[in-house]
Amino acid sequence: MPTSSVPRPRVDALPRALRFPDNFLWGVGTSAHQVEGGVDLDGRGPSIWDTFAARGGTRHGDSGAVAADHRRRMADDVALLARLGVPAYRFSVAWPRVQPTGRGPASQAGLDFYRALVDELLAHGVEPVVTLYHWDLPQALEDAGGWPVRDTAERFAEYAALVHGALGDRAHNWTTMNEPWCAAFLGYASGEHAPGRQEPAASLRAAHHLLLGHGMAAQAIRAGAGDPRVALCLNVYPVGRASDSEADRDAQRRIDGLQNRFFLDATLLGRYPDDVRQDVRALTDFGHVRDGDLATIAQPLDALGLNYYNRLTAAAGAGDPAGRPGPAGGTRRLPPPFPGSEHVGFVPQGRPRTAMDWEIDAGGLTDVLLRVSRDYPAPPLYVMENGAAFADTVSADGRVHDPDRTAYLAAHLAACRDAIAAGADLRGYFVWSFLDNFEWAWGYEMRFGVVHVDFATQQRVIKDSARWYADSARRNAPAPLPDAPDVPGSPA
Ligand code: FCB
Repeated sequence: MPTSSVPRPRVDALPRALRFPDNFLWGVGTSAHQVEGGVDLDGRGPSIWDTFAARGGTRHGDSGAVAADHRRRMADDVALLARLGVPAYRFSVAWPRVQPTGRGPASQAGLDFYRALVDELLAHGVEPVVTLYHWDLPQALEDAGGWPVRDTAERFAEYAALVHGALGDRAHNWTTMNEPWCAAFLGYASGEHAPGRQEPAASLRAAHHLLLGHGMAAQAIRAGAGDPRVALCLNVYPVGRASDSEADRDAQRRIDGLQNRFFLDATLLGRYPDDVRQDVRALTDFGHVRDGDLATIAQPLDALGLNYYNRLTAAAGAGDPAGRPGPAGGTRRLPPPFPGSEHVGFVPQGRPRTAMDWEIDAGGLTDVLLRVSRDYPAPPLYVMENGAAFADTVSADGRVHDPDRTAYLAAHLAACRDAIAAGADLRGYFVWSFLDNFEWAWGYEMRFGVVHVDFATQQRVIKDSARWYADSARRNAPAPLPDAPDVPGSPA
């Protein structure tokens, strides 16, 4: 699938056991609102994240107004990607840049930007992977009810057709939605993300309409020209339990149900799990689900993107709420305030943590890949996001030495190889993220990039981890670790 012309010179010299399958796709990712800035260009309309930031929903009042200024620096950024030698780039299209109010004709200037981006990538031999929705809903659609309202799914399908109509002749990899769990439950239940609503019943309608939007968009893309490959990205977590007690087993079932099975069952099996429907029956009778919706949601997929950061260990009782207060006082990655969720906690496992306070557990990635492969009729899998925030600084030598991130990536790539060896049909891996960026409610405090961004000057500095990762991509196998600390399971 990759059209990349990046040479992989040393492949034959490596032991086969360390190599990834031929054509394994190595990439890095970003999303529009996290890197673009340029909110005043192309006639772009406001998104829910502009409004949420203006209302104080983010750390230090940070917003995506400038971000990594990628809207203006796109050509330089693509040149940097190409210089590094990364074969694929996942980016998202900002809906309000294409349709300022989320409906009606497309902004030609908005579409032109994304055409130019795709053309620039192709000219540099980098494979484009397009995501249509990475959380920046046009504010006008939120004002009309947002994702809890069915019309938003219809609008999304229309938008998908517009973007595919403009780019479908040159971009072949399409992802409809990124992490609908976050958009629904952090956006409409816990309120930690835009639009910041705390309405658990509405969040379940939002989850359904996000999935419906995915299915309708998949149909719209396939109805267009070209040879599109359609995917969805889900954040699936391995959910363990603190003990074998009945109460902890039930906590595990509840969390796994809402976090994972609700989305996997709907998209890959065409149904919502009965136990989850029971768990939330005080909130909804699912009357918003119309005949035929689940068939629409369960469109055949060409690929499934899995985004992995950490493992959850559920326990009954409040336990240690382990998520620790998030930037806006909430607890990202914790269950929303559903009935019963007040009795569920997460137990830390005492592992090293990233700056986000997320425990590092590479084995969880193997578990997720194998679980989805075993329990579902899954299409080919891609790790569409994996990476870590650390408090990076530019050293006196002008470089950014980030051995913790390199070790993190090495361990997770080893976990991917383990999954492939055990039978998972994993076809690619994308680091989150190419650039340091606007980390949602955390603002600019969290640096996930393999390229450092000085947000005052917009200067980019390639971190050591980026060089290591690009070298790995060239070899189609994890490169040796220079002076990183020991990583269990690493190929050093
Ligand atoms: C994922 C998001 C991505 C980024 C990473 C850290 O949930 O999809 O935009 O915020 O987390």
